Order: sequence, then C-alpha cells, then structure tokens
Amino acid sequence: MKTRITDMFGIQHPIIQGGMHFVGFAELAAAVSNAGGLGIITGLTQRTPELLANEIRRCREMTDKPFGVNLTFLPTVSSPDYPGYIQAIIDGGIKAVETAGNNPQKWLPALHEAGVKVIHKCTSVRHSLKAQSIGCDAVSVDGFECGGHPGEDDVPNFILLPRAADELKIPFVASGGMADGRSLVAALSLGAEGINMGTRFIATKEAPVHENVKQAIVAASELDTRLVMRPLRNTERVLRNGAVDRLLEKERTLGASLKFEDIIDEVAGVYPKIMLEGTMDAGAWSCGMVAGLIHDVPSVKDLIDRIMAEADDIIRQRLMGFVNA
Ligand SMILES: Cc1cc2nc3c(=O)[nH]c(=O)nc-3n(C[C@H](O)[C@H](O)[C@H](O)COP(=O)(O)O)c2cc1C
Repeated sequence: MKTRITDMFGIQHPIIQGGMHFVGFAELAAAVSNAGGLGIITGLTQRTPELLANEIRRCREMTDKPFGVNLTFLPTVSSPDYPGYIQAIIDGGIKAVETAGNNPQKWLPALHEAGVKVIHKCTSVRHSLKAQSIGCDAVSVDGFECGGHPGEDDVPNFILLPRAADELKIPFVASGGMADGRSLVAALSLGAEGINMGTRFIATKEAPVHENVKQAIVAASELDTRLVMRPLRNTERVLRNGAVDRLLEKERTLGASLKFEDIIDEVAGVYPKIMLEGTMDAGAWSCGMVAGLIHDVPSVKDLIDRIMAEADDIIRQRLMGFVNA
C-alpha cells in the first residue's frame, strides 16, 4: 500500500507505532520497523539524552529499516533536557520524529536541517492546522477513543478524521481506536493516509512489558477505560483499576480544589512498576477503548501482516462487491 505517509517515512505499510512511556523501547520499535511499519522509541522513557543515544544504537543493531523517536512536551514536574534529546536524535541519524503535547515549533528548524520529518500528534483540527502552519510534515490525529491524552474536546475519530481531511493539506494518520484491517480501511476512507496504534502494539510478543500488562489488555472490554485528571485539564484515558477508582474518588471529593499533589501517589512514577514489574494496581496507566477489540498476543509481524491482508480483502472483496453488485 502506497500513501504520502509510506513515501514520507520510507516504510512498506502505512502503520506507525506511537510513542509509549515504558513500552516504546528498542525491542518494540525494531520489531515494528522490521515488519514494514514505523517503530518509535519513546524519548523521555530514557532518563538522559545519553541513554536515548544508547537506545537508538541498540535499535539500529536490531533493524536496518527506518525507525523514529517520540518526544513528548507535556507538563512534567521537572523540565527534561530537550536540547540534549534533540541532539541525540540528530546525532543518532533518526529521520522521523513524533512530537506530542506542547507546540514543537522551537525544535523544527534544527530537525528539518538534519533531514528529519516531524509528525505532530494533535487531538483537534485547530491544533492540526497550527502544526501545519508552523511547518510540521504530517499530523497524527488522535481521537477521543485513544489511550493516553485525548485532550479536552472529546471529538471521536468518526468526526475528527473527516474534519481533519477537509482542512489539512499535509498528510495525516488516524490515531486512537485502531486495531485491525477494518480500522485501516475506515481510516483511509475518512481521509487519513495511515494509522497510528498504541494499545494494540502493547499486546504483542515483542512488546518489552510484563505479561500481566498484555493479559490485562486482552481481558479488558471497551467499557473498562476511565478519564482521569480532567479537573487539571490534563485528561488521560487509562485502564480502570483500584488506583484509578481511588483517584476518581479524590477528584469527586476535592472538586475544583484538586491539585496535582493530591493524586501524586496514583500517577507519578507508576509506569516502571506497572510495565516492568507487572504490579497492575500500582497506579493509572494509559490504555485505549480499543482494548475491546484486542483478544490475542501475536508477534508484531503477524499482527501487521494480518492487518494488511484484512485491509486488502475488505477493499477488493467486500467493498468492490458492493459497488459491482
Ligand atoms: C501505555 C501508553 C503510554 C503512552 N505514552 C505516550 C507518550 O509517552 N507520549 C505520547 O506522545 N503518546 C503516548 N501514548 C499515546 C500513543 O502514542 C497513541 O497516540 C495512542 O495510544 C493511540 O491510541 P490507541 O491506544 O487507541 O491506539 C501512550 C499510550 C499508551 C497506551
């Protein structure tokens, strides 16, 4: 399948693996790239630019295909060394960067000068147009269904994607709720030129996370996610668990007076405990509604091959069958 996204990133299939804290290590990024998609290392999971440089080197040992790095500009307790991370990306020969969170404008000249293509993740048409106007090369349009931070507008992909298609000139991928060939064909129909998946890629053999995380996703239905931190305007879609219930109770009790410090036990520093140790109730962790469509833990290659074969079949058999009837 050939789209502006496959051309831009030099990949075989229009499938991107979104950055994921404590999931997007070299093993997963390399597996996705080896299977013909675009794997992405999560920059901030590496505590320093030196560690990111090392992770890029490790990934390069596992694949000779293109892969990218995610750099998230979110409100964090202490500001990371962004100039250092940008330098590590450039020095590491990375040609694709997924940015997310705050406006990446400041970093675009250096990245573009180094020949890096920047895809910015946006949860609204407004932000997508802004990304286009500052010179981003592509957008990852992240609907309300998505795992992680869906923003505050709550527009699902069935509306958001065609709205983006009506307004954007640069190519975009559909992010949030994508799981299979049906998702890919639907996304293409709505104007996207590929898909970005997070949650689906966690439940794969190569995802370097604890088995408990994969099984929690397989066991979950589309009803099992919750939105947390909405009162702080930092909404995150997470899988419901004991910690999330406690967090939501605090949000209800404290109302408008809620501060980040009130929920620090449920959200700060919890990812290593969950992803690496498998302590599933250690805190709130991002997960999409798409969990309801995930029933197995295939290899990344089997997953991507299955998506592409299913998409091909839907286009050639099902859809063509309707118009030729
Ligand atoms: C466990 C987890 C961690 C994530 N961490 C990040 C992150 O650090 N930076 C980021 O830009 N997006 C992050 N995301 C969002 C994903 O990159 C992607 O946009 C999202 O998962 C798409 O929705 P889906 O889960 O329905 O596929 C995370 C998602 C998950 C599930």
